[in-house]
Amino acid sequence: MKITAAAAFLVSCMPSLGFALIRSDWNFARVPPDGLWDITFPFNMAKAPHRSGFYFAQQFNFHGVKEMGYTGLQPREDKKGKSIVHAAFSSFQGGTTTDHPNCHLGADFGPGVSCAVAIAGNYSHTYKITVRNIGGTTWRGTLIDTVTKERDIIGEWTLPSGSGKIVNGQMGFVEYYPWNTQRSHTCDSLPYTSAFFQHPYSRTKGAVDGRINRVYENGGCIGQVGYKVNRTSTGYNIEVGH
Ligand SMILES: *[C@@H]1O[C@H](CO)[C@@H](O)[C@H](O)[C@H]1NC(C)=O
Ligand SMILES: *[C@@H]1O[C@H](CO)[C@@H](O)[C@H](O)[C@H]1NC(C)=O
Repeated sequence: MKITAAAAFLVSCMPSLGFALIRSDWNFARVPPDGLWDITFPFNMAKAPHRSGFYFAQQFNFHGVKEMGYTGLQPREDKKGKSIVHAAFSSFQGGTTTDHPNCHLGADFGPGVSCAVAIAGNYSHTYKITVRNIGGTTWRGTLIDTVTKERDIIGEWTLPSGSGKIVNGQMGFVEYYPWNTQRSHTCDSLPYTSAFFQHPYSRTKGAVDGRINRVYENGGCIGQVGYKVNRTSTGYNIEVGH
């Protein structure tokens, strides 16, 4: 579920709501004034159990429209002995359209478009997701295995006319989404997971030094879910749960 400043405030007042357990902030030291044509968010789930429930996500906004998009990875149960990597790519902007087979109208029970793909993958590989303008106001999300170089399109959607390129700076998050629809939960029931959030980058000319600047706990279980974070030169290792 996307996170906004308002939702973060709501969560701080209502500790029974799940939303994001962990948040991160990303930005570039410099971008061209009209924004980014493309952005890439790498993730690694090597230490994540192969179970559904967690979403490792990065959000982004576009110039000229109010609502954001997000993209990220979700672990899944193995199928027929194969590891399954699920990737999502959504727009929350009303008036977004799509004709891509991986996509449908609606996002988080509101307007927008949601796209997803599930592939047989390998959790020890780093996967990167590239969000790229492919003409006009149409954007494509592509899942790339950095070891095998396999590329899978997650989906494509078209923002309303008048929308521009990607804005510098937004948030990422780790969410345990079963909690979003449960009436209540206890913090000690959170299963273990781990993920590496690597710094974003862009091929857009003039985009310099993309970084995740900060990772921090969020929501109603702060200090109660075994949250650990290590910063490396390339990003942040995050662990949470029991
Ligand atoms: C997953 O990738 C690692 C590193 O490339 C490799 O050693 C391992 O054999 C792969 N596992 C499978 C099941 O292909
Ligand atoms: C951080 O580093 C410590 C010491 O090397 C290690 O025990 C811990 O598991 C690491 N945590 C994460 C989230 O990578």
